[in-house]
Amino acid sequence: MALRLGDTAPNFQIDTTKGKIDFHEWIGDSWCFFFSHPADFTPVCTTEMGRTAQLAKQFADRNVKPLGLSTDTVEEHNKWIEDVNDTQDTTLEFPIVADADKKISELYEMIHPGESETAAVRSVYIIDSNKKIRLMMTYPMSVGRNFDEILRVIDALQTGDKHGVATPADWTPGARVIIPPTVSNEDAQKKFPQGFEEIRSYLRYTKV
Ligand code: BEZ
Repeated sequence: MALRLGDTAPNFQIDTTKGKIDFHEWIGDSWCFFFSHPADFTPVCTTEMGRTAQLAKQFADRNVKPLGLSTDTVEEHNKWIEDVNDTQDTTLEFPIVADADKKISELYEMIHPGESETAAVRSVYIIDSNKKIRLMMTYPMSVGRNFDEILRVIDALQTGDKHGVATPADWTPGARVIIPPTVSNEDAQKKFPQGFEEIRSYLRYTKV
């Protein structure tokens, strides 16, 4: 069955570079940025692992735990982490799933045979503290992910949850947000006492 937004993220138990985890237990009350890589000791992956490690505080500030995955063993991952730390000038602390038998990459549909029969592509799952899948993105093997966008979409999801709003194109934190069409003007006045701007009956902006 294909995974879809709003589905409960499938649970699993697996060895990682920080020991064995039960995925749901490990997420706990946090959110999770679960992201896959084709292989250890490859250039694009090395930069992405390094970037995630460099952004440890930004993820923690948002209550998000990063979890990497590639289809290699814990021993290989641990050797690779030394290289990531050396070449990316960082200290990688988050766990990386050892998915040498590809059980988890298959469960999460991270293998796209048209790209590679054996290696995972660059999948991103943002999973919330209720273990629901909130975002899925898939990048090809040759293109490193944009981490500003990953943090931006986490901010947009968390702002939407907190205030019951949607976010417009290219939204960044602090910019105006959209009042969903399901909220009447009467309810919007109560919910957003700071006021709102009505461009069309279906397009209303406010600040939160
Ligand atoms: C990389 O991470 O650099 C990479 C991995 C597989 C194919 C192409 C690039």
